[in-house]
Amino acid sequence: MSETPLTKDDFTTRDEPVRLFGDWLADAQESEPNDPTAVALATVDQDGLPDVRMVLLKGFDRDGFVFYTNFESAKGVELLGSMKAAMCFHWKSLRRQVRLRGPVEIVSDAEADAYFASRPRGSRIGAWASKQSRPLESRFALEKSVAEYTARHAVGTIPRPPHWSGFRLKPQTIEFWHDRPFRLHDRVVFTADGKGGWNKTRLYP
Ligand SMILES: Cc1cc2nc3c(=O)[nH]c(=O)nc-3n(C[C@H](O)[C@H](O)[C@H](O)COP(=O)(O)O)c2cc1C
Repeated sequence: MSETPLTKDDFTTRDEPVRLFGDWLADAQESEPNDPTAVALATVDQDGLPDVRMVLLKGFDRDGFVFYTNFESAKGVELLGSMKAAMCFHWKSLRRQVRLRGPVEIVSDAEADAYFASRPRGSRIGAWASKQSRPLESRFALEKSVAEYTARHAVGTIPRPPHWSGFRLKPQTIEFWHDRPFRLHDRVVFTADGKGGWNKTRLYP
């Protein structure tokens, strides 16, 4: 096992979690072999049974953390049912974890349209062709669907499908974790104070 890497700064002294998250993501963009924005997204179904899968974070700021998906997928249905979620980033190369929990809201049509338009053409076709999370009879059925939508959108712009958009998780808590020797890790949780500020608490590892 290699030594715990030295932190660039002592994050436990920081008072603003969104900027701290941005600094850690920037570090991960330097050090992770791929997908530094990949994040585990947890939801619950209507029976309260948890579900989790990876998504890509596509934006974040003081208003929340944004990802995009098919609203008719399992996660889409679960999110629309509860309007709550949790996220967990783990950057292995940095031995860092960030956890977020809170309500979600749907991004505006303008925001979703702008992001959809920025995606490669193949991904835009794919959003139309995939009935995400529903049974697929064969690979051929998917390729046929892609061919049909490719022909349908052969010319002109490809509109955003009505069932495809983004959610913004508005964190009530953001917890930062960094590995330290002998499992005596550093943990700091920020809790939204409801007035645009944050209360900070250190936690036992
Ligand atoms: C690294 C990674 C990133 C992913 N990003 C997304 C994403 O941004 N949006 C999405 O809908 N699915 C994404 N997926 C696929 C999901 O993990 C999942 O398989 C799919 O969305 C269906 O999930 P559901 O059945 O819970 O709705 C990603 C998978 C991986 C491994």
